[in-house]
Amino acid sequence: MRMVDIIQKKKAGGELSKDEIDFVIQGYTKGSIPDYQMSSLLMAIYFKGMSSRETADLTLAFVNSGDQINLSQIEGIKVDKHSTGGVGDKISLIVIPLVASVGVPVAKMSGRGLGHTGGTIDKLETIEGFKTELTMEEFITNVNTYKMAIVGQSANLTPADKKIYALRDVTATVDSIPLIASSIMSKKIASGADAIVLDVKVGSGAFMKSIDKAKELARQMVDIGKSLNRKTVAVVTDMSQPLGYEVGNANEIREAIEVLKGKGSEDETTVALTIASHMAVLGGAFDDFESAYKKLKNIIYSGKAIEKLKELIRIQGGNSDYIDIPSKLPQAKYHIEVKALKEGYITSINAENIGISAMLLGAGRKTKEDTIDHAAGITMVKKAGDLVKENDTICILHTNLKDCSEAETMARNAYNIGSEEIKFNKYIYEVIL
Ligand code: URA
Repeated sequence: MRMVDIIQKKKAGGELSKDEIDFVIQGYTKGSIPDYQMSSLLMAIYFKGMSSRETADLTLAFVNSGDQINLSQIEGIKVDKHSTGGVGDKISLIVIPLVASVGVPVAKMSGRGLGHTGGTIDKLETIEGFKTELTMEEFITNVNTYKMAIVGQSANLTPADKKIYALRDVTATVDSIPLIASSIMSKKIASGADAIVLDVKVGSGAFMKSIDKAKELARQMVDIGKSLNRKTVAVVTDMSQPLGYEVGNANEIREAIEVLKGKGSEDETTVALTIASHMAVLGGAFDDFESAYKKLKNIIYSGKAIEKLKELIRIQGGNSDYIDIPSKLPQAKYHIEVKALKEGYITSINAENIGISAMLLGAGRKTKEDTIDHAAGITMVKKAGDLVKENDTICILHTNLKDCSEAETMARNAYNIGSEEIKFNKYIYEVIL
């Protein structure tokens, strides 16, 4: 087999065989196929696409390039969830205890934040003592005993995807739906879950800016999951503005606590209950979505959900006093109120720019090597649809940095203020089964 023939075939719109896909992925991972040929093939895929069979084969080739986690010692249907990434997205912190509280095992592998999006592992590390590295034995024991555990992703999961993702990043081939779908699904499949709920974000803070593109990505990921015998559901959710009112690490933990106590914002609570309900149905605890939603909502209001979060923190070595007294979580030295420059309705908020502003305040990383400040972040005092007067506070920046003028300008400019009243209450666009 020759790489040049494979590139030629894809360039002409042909369908690559499983053997050809395996040849490419194995050859590129071990270094016998150079970057320039792989780049060329990626660009051909970008323009010509892939069939669902090719996308599933590519996913499997990524899975087979590294370790695969064996969760067979965990009883029951193991469910996982994945978000395509957003700003203020603290859904995992809410759904893990919620789904575990109805007896469905949640074996969660999560990542760290990069760029404008946050990561669940960084958020949990805000809590003193919380261990995000567990041995496989501890992980399995915790899921069997308490129905939940969360760890950072292992270094040797899908190395082929890691290498190709780095190349896509510098060859303008990230935004190809089959490449994104196979990249995300390979990590979920290698992590060993039986059932996967995908939270596909759409809007200014997400990878997918249009609903049609988000639906297409969701469809492809669900098809991959099903063809590889994983029960998979995708929910397309709004990311046209940050989710909830808090962006950052300590302040997102505080907001997740509020949701689990039944005092959360409508958007955050609705998205969390929707994702959790699909997980609970796939995990076999309920026959249908509606009964799962009703029960999980009751669990929140009964106080059981917040107790389960405390348990999660305790079993992973963290100090659960922080849940009772969230003010003990790290607090920044400076709190800068950003003011509206004119009167009017907030017509939209550029979520990506809020994410970048939070990163500049210290809450995120520009590069993988950066350290983060858990106390830094943004409180969204006003959201889309709200009416503001000139000089009203629209958001508050929390930081330990003396000079944050760039972040302040970015946050202010993320808010668009107009004269027309808008109604904003759409959080879920589509569920793809
Ligand atoms: N996240 C991934 O893991 N892979 C992509 O290609 C895009 C987002």
